[in-house]
Amino acid sequence: MSESSHQDRVLIFDTTLRDGEQSPGATMTHDEKLEIAAMLDEMGVDIIEAGFPIASEGDFEAVRDIAKLSKNAVICGLARAQLPDIDRAWEAVQHAARPRIHTFIGTSPLHRDITALTQDEMVERIEATVAHARNLCDDVQWSPMDATRTERDYLCRVVETAIRAGATTINIPDTVGYTAPRESAKLIEMLLERVPGADEIIFATHCHNDLGMATANALAAVEAGARQIECTINGLGERAGNTALEEVVMALKVRNDIMPFRTGIDTTRIMGLSRKVATVSGFPVQFNKAIVGKNAFAHESGIHQDGVLKNAETFEIMRPADIGLNATNLVMGKHSGRAALRSKMKELGFDLGDNQLKDVFVRFKALADRKKEVYDDDLLALMRDSDLDA
Ligand code: KIV
Ligand code: ZN
Repeated sequence: MSESSHQDRVLIFDTTLRDGEQSPGATMTHDEKLEIAAMLDEMGVDIIEAGFPIASEGDFEAVRDIAKLSKNAVICGLARAQLPDIDRAWEAVQHAARPRIHTFIGTSPLHRDITALTQDEMVERIEATVAHARNLCDDVQWSPMDATRTERDYLCRVVETAIRAGATTINIPDTVGYTAPRESAKLIEMLLERVPGADEIIFATHCHNDLGMATANALAAVEAGARQIECTINGLGERAGNTALEEVVMALKVRNDIMPFRTGIDTTRIMGLSRKVATVSGFPVQFNKAIVGKNAFAHESGIHQDGVLKNAETFEIMRPADIGLNATNLVMGKHSGRAALRSKMKELGFDLGDNQLKDVFVRFKALADRKKEVYDDDLLALMRDSDLDA
């Protein structure tokens, strides 16, 4: 058995089609959702949250059809803590080989005010709705929305209630991206220590990125005992988004020495999914986005290009192929050096001798001073001009 098969398995729960689609303007068509679900399934995502069936007829149909088509992943539908929501979610996911109902209620003081429920009334609601879901489905996930701003004693009480009522996964959402890594870890440790029955269920972490800490908070929760990460492709999601799937998965892979957990993700499919989600959602990926940004494996400065050409590990902590990219991208610009130019020219079919390289390099630098980025076509034109001069 390999070293990694002894390591704790962390489940990857993708909510691109539910929380991701809740980004204003990121609506996807039925067919696009089906295509993305199929890609997520092939990539090895453990649970796909396919939508919020009571939200609209379109959402219902998407969840139902994804449930019918998916081969490996658990298919999950979201429901508020209301019986008609739960029934509708079940109606949609029951077609899956492995269905899950995910039900939630806001438990923080702010949310209790909105629902106008006392603490005791909310506990009764949780008991009734989770038990109802469990009567329909063996796999029930429950979330105390805004958990990180819920009083700790009350959080323990509601989590215990949901476990007793039959929840098999308890998700701890940082709904507004308010927590920080140490606090995220302490919260999971506290729940595991104080809540009876906590060792019999799976704790999930669901982080939003309002302070840019979603990935760090999710990984801290895993180190403290959470065994399911909720995330989206490209970190798509409400406001500043959710934990990015590609970031947590690659962090666990690259730093497995200090975070010895394994996922079932085929990381070589990351780039394909990133591009697909960016295209259908209409949300382009920022150039310097970790893992999937256009510049994540691009090098312009001479020192970096020279280093990478000699040994990629000098400036790359993962191989582009690991995420499904063909090769490191040497961006030709004013910071590039001779080694990069020689290598780029070779790629374009010109094996330059030292003297020729010297001449072309002078022309290239003059051009790079005028242009931000020198493209392959510019270099080809430069070579044509050199021929004319000769
Ligand atoms: O952020 C959140 O609290 C959610 C819940 C519905 C789980 O997305
Ligand atoms: Zn969320």
